[in-house]
This record gives sequence, C-alpha cells and structure tokens, in this order.
Amino acid sequence: MLAYLNGQFLPRSTTTISVEDRGFVFGDGVYEVWRVVNGRLFESERHLARLEFGLGELRIRLPEQLSLSAVEQIADRLLRESSLTTGEATFYMEVTRGAAPRAHQFPAANTPPTVYATVNRLNPPEDLRARGASAITIPDIRWLRCDIKTIQLLPNVLAKQAAAEKGAVDALMIRDGVVTEGSHANVVGVLDGTIRTHPTNHLVLPGITRAIVLDIARHAGIPVSEEPIAEREIPRLEELFLVGTTTDVMPIVRVDDRPVGDGKPGPITTKLVTEFRAYLDASCAPAHSAL
Ligand code: PDD
Repeated sequence: MLAYLNGQFLPRSTTTISVEDRGFVFGDGVYEVWRVVNGRLFESERHLARLEFGLGELRIRLPEQLSLSAVEQIADRLLRESSLTTGEATFYMEVTRGAAPRAHQFPAANTPPTVYATVNRLNPPEDLRARGASAITIPDIRWLRCDIKTIQLLPNVLAKQAAAEKGAVDALMIRDGVVTEGSHANVVGVLDGTIRTHPTNHLVLPGITRAIVLDIARHAGIPVSEEPIAEREIPRLEELFLVGTTTDVMPIVRVDDRPVGDGKPGPITTKLVTEFRAYLDASCAPAHSAL
C-alpha cells in the first residue's frame, strides 16, 4: 500500500514520522476515514468539513493540502497506485500539530502540521450483517469533546477490546445513564416504532452515516427522535443498530447477552440496511455507468 506524507508518496512500510511528532507524543491531532467504493470517495465534502472543524477547534493550522480538490487528488493517486479503484476501500487522513521538542503548549506558530494519508481494502462482513451482531455496554470514560475526531482513541480502543473479548462486535458507551455511541460508530435504536439516537452535541461524533440514515428514515416516513436511549430502556428496544463509515448499518441483536426484540434484525433496520447500501452504491457508481 502507498502512503502520503507531507507532499510525498511512498510505500507505507517506508514512511516514517519524527519521534517528536505531537501526534505521537500527545495525541495532538485529528483524523478522518472516508468510505471508497469503485475508487470514489463517499461524501468527500462532509468528511473534509468535519476534519476542518476539528482542526479549527484544536487551533491547528490548516494545511494547504486540505482543499477538496487536493484531498481528492491525494486519494485518487493512493487508490490507483494501491490497486483499489474497484470494490470497497477506505481512505484515511490524519493531521497533527507537527514535530517540535516536547512541551505541552503549542509549538512555534511556523511549525508545519504533519499530513498523513493512506488507503486500505475494506471487507464488509455481510454474513454478520444478515445474522445481526452482539454488543456489550461499557462506561463512557471519554473527554467532553467527543464531537472532535481526535486521534486520542484510548477509551475507544479499550471499549472495542472489551467487546472483542466477549465475542461482541462493539461496546455501547453509557454516560450518565444514556447510550452515547459505539467505539467507532453511532448507535440507533427503535422504541415504540420511533427511531431514537443521541443528539449531536459534545458527547458524540456527528456521524455522517448517522445523518444520511436519519434522512433516509425520515423520507420513508419513519418517526425519528434525537433523544438519547436510556440504559434502562435497552431491554425494551424493538431494534438496535450501529451506523458508521466502515460499519454501514449493522443490526445489533443481543446486548449483554439479552436479545434485542426477537433476536433477529428487525424490519426497520433491514429496510435501512438496504436503502443505505443503495444510496452508497448510487453515490459511488463508476463514472461510465452515469452515461
Ligand atoms: N469512526 N462515532 C465514533 C466515535 C466514530 O469514531 C465514528 C467513525 C462514528 C461514525 O461516524 P461516520 O459515520 O461519519 O463514519 C461515530 C471511523 C470510521 C473510524 O474511527 O474508523
């Protein structure tokens, strides 16, 4: 696989950053993950806007490579030269506050940010999607700016590991008695026929898949309420699913060893799985099929 680092394209295995990079030392940076289908970036502008928002909140200088066309050019070359212009892939970009001697405060204003990007093959687990997955619950121990997609992911790493050790696909994070989100996806439930999910505030990432799926649901006439699911409501949920760039819509049919609904992907989830996939494929249709 090829990687991009500060203006250069190199094999990923030979790409190196400074040990003084503030991303390495402090986790001082942000990242994005774009879905790629047929070599085309899905929702490229929205992901870039979220990356720019994060940089602004952290007061990291906006690198000049971050125009939409420059980002798309970087992605195109990485995808082409890594043979990922067909099928499913992801494009990852990370920006840190750059390399400087270790000191907590910001480095000199002229310190250039580090810009790193790479691509990977994605193999969506369609058999698991058809069966439905299980999840655990775990306390949400993250900071209070979960709306910024920072590279500081230790609570998310620990949550996902706890899930994996129990044979579950993910952990639903609970803060103050409500479900916030998963380790790398938003969480959506169905209760009394209404779709429920945490509102977009400082406690969750404003997921792009979440926004698209909620739009699809509203258009289909399914009631949507951005009121969080209380932990005590989990046993009453009729349906539950995760939404995210690498997750798509993933039915959750067990939480902490109790079935959700009848223990199978429900009708609303199944409809959203299908409609989201259709939207993704239509958005990323190969250029020639639009003719
Ligand atoms: N994760 N919540 C968290 C904590 C996330 O890390 C993500 C994305 C989402 C879903 O957002 P979106 O639909 O915009 O991808 C929600 C990426 C994919 C990752 O870390 O790999």
